[in-house]
Amino acid sequence: MNKPVSVAIDGPSGAGKSTIARILAKELGYIYVDTGALYRTVGYAVLQKEIDPQDAVAVESLLPHITVSMGYANGEQRVFLNGEDVSAYIRTPEVSMAASTTSAMPPVRQFLFRLQQDTARQNSVIMDGRDIGTVVLPFASVKIFLTASAEDRAQRRFLELREKGMDVTYEDVLADMKERDYNDSHRAAAPLKPAEDAVLVDTSGNTLEQSVEILKAIILNALKG
Ligand code: DC
Repeated sequence: MNKPVSVAIDGPSGAGKSTIARILAKELGYIYVDTGALYRTVGYAVLQKEIDPQDAVAVESLLPHITVSMGYANGEQRVFLNGEDVSAYIRTPEVSMAASTTSAMPPVRQFLFRLQQDTARQNSVIMDGRDIGTVVLPFASVKIFLTASAEDRAQRRFLELREKGMDVTYEDVLADMKERDYNDSHRAAAPLKPAEDAVLVDTSGNTLEQSVEILKAIILNALKG
């Protein structure tokens, strides 16, 4: 069997990672792994147990009592908390913030590390997150760091949330995004930063199709070399 290929796509939220990675995974025949969904599942578990996401001791003591796993239905990734599919509950602004807070805690990162690495060991993957190229898959075949201006990213996320029927304003989404960017890039454990050997791509002003083509060219070129 050929060694599985792994493509790491990191970057701040709203840069288009998941949409682009999902399309590319389909085109290239790889599995798409959304690691943010795993951190969101932990955030959701914390809120469900009415634990304060800032309370690192309480969050850590919850971990041995939960299981987080992934599966695929119709080509879409689903996430499971204690065997229950919670994919529909993890996209709210509350869960986003709880995920951002709890993902800064080393025990939470440790808790999800194995699942991510094992998935990439067994399958060719396009994995998106914040520390995939730097920590989870340092030997990834291709590493891409995808970004865009905060305003561009907030606008995309705002439209996505409105489409899902959520009652949010652009200003709130932008403020949340800036707060999460700050948290994600200033934490001590696996902060958001490009791997030294990552290709940087700024998607500001691009259409989705343009960004997909740019990334596809980078991936195919890297795999050829
Ligand atoms: O990509 P996302 O917005 O769904 O991620 C939710 C949160 O999880 C985000 O604030 C940062 C965190 N995260 C992380 O710390 N490491 C990852 N590999 C993926 C997400």
